[in-house]
Amino acid sequence: MGKKIFSGVQPTGNLHLGNYLGAIKNFVDLNNDNDNKCIFCVVDLHAITVKQDPKELKNNIRETVATFIASGIDPKKSIIFNQSRVAAHAEGAWILSCVARMGWLNRMTQFKEKAGKDKEKASIGLYSYPVLMAADILLYDATHVPVGDDQKQHLELCRDIAQKFNNDFEVENFLQVPEPLIQKEFSRIMSLKDGSKKMSKSELSDLSRINLTDEKDQIINKIKKAKTDPLPMPQDIKELEERLEAKNLLGIYSSLTNSTLENSVKNFAGKNFSEFKDELAENLVNKIEPISNEIKKLLGDKNYLDEILLDGVEKANLIASKKIERIKEIVGF
Ligand code: TYM
Repeated sequence: MGKKIFSGVQPTGNLHLGNYLGAIKNFVDLNNDNDNKCIFCVVDLHAITVKQDPKELKNNIRETVATFIASGIDPKKSIIFNQSRVAAHAEGAWILSCVARMGWLNRMTQFKEKAGKDKEKASIGLYSYPVLMAADILLYDATHVPVGDDQKQHLELCRDIAQKFNNDFEVENFLQVPEPLIQKEFSRIMSLKDGSKKMSKSELSDLSRINLTDEKDQIINKIKKAKTDPLPMPQDIKELEERLEAKNLLGIYSSLTNSTLENSVKNFAGKNFSEFKDELAENLVNKIEPISNEIKKLLGDKNYLDEILLDGVEKANLIASKKIERIKEIVGF
């Protein structure tokens, strides 16, 4: 049976290789299966949990849509829309925040990481953001949610919220408890400068990530400068436990070439990093350069991108407004 897919990406600029290999590549595969119904959301309400420049945010929303399409998502086969235009997300988040428990949210590691040392100054939105994410998913009865490894805990929270709502209001199976779709390998792409840190758009150094808008020379340069260790390429997969940078680069290579980590290790065992890096850069350029060119081309046609969003908003609204009406009835409004 086909799956009901929902996933979201924040329009905070600089979508990178981690977003692509961890999530968007998976969106494309799921979208290509005609049995699936796919909804991809540009989560602008999530973006404002940290300060955004309003002008840039507007452009970043379009750029995220352009990135979806340039990566291979067919807007005719899926719903692409931005969250803030469908009021049910904010309404749902409020109702579900009265179901979710403080203790559950206090365990969220991403809040701790993002809020850093000065928790008192973090926005309330940053703290309650996983509840909004739960509303996103539950409004569409999504059965499967493709995400990178860093969203796993938020997905578990969403499942807990759905189950508690169904129990508290005695509406068995009303909210669909979704399954996460997290790739077994390569679901966490790390920084090119530090194999123990996630590749992220908030990292200061641009050399730490490959952006999906990077050009050929930038990609080659970033791979040349990527951190490695002084040893030759690993002989055995077990060595990777201690050699995080080698593991990450081999993981990226494997994901791009659809091979296993084990095979990639075998392929390059004992060779110099420089030889491996040349091949890695070539594969990256082949994959990212066409996406980067297409994003830039699409950004030249703002009307086209706006039309896709408008069409998506209309379709999403039809589904979400019905669900939120039922939720309100159940709650007693
Ligand atoms: P966001 O915008 O931070 O990231 C979008 C997607 O990219 C994945 N990702 C990564 N995967 C592997 N390695 C990395 N270094 C890496 N960095 C990011 C993320 O796991 C994510 O899948 N809260 C979400 C957005 C969201 C959402 C939703 C997702 C809002 N509502 C409902 C699913 C369903 C977020 O901030 O993702």
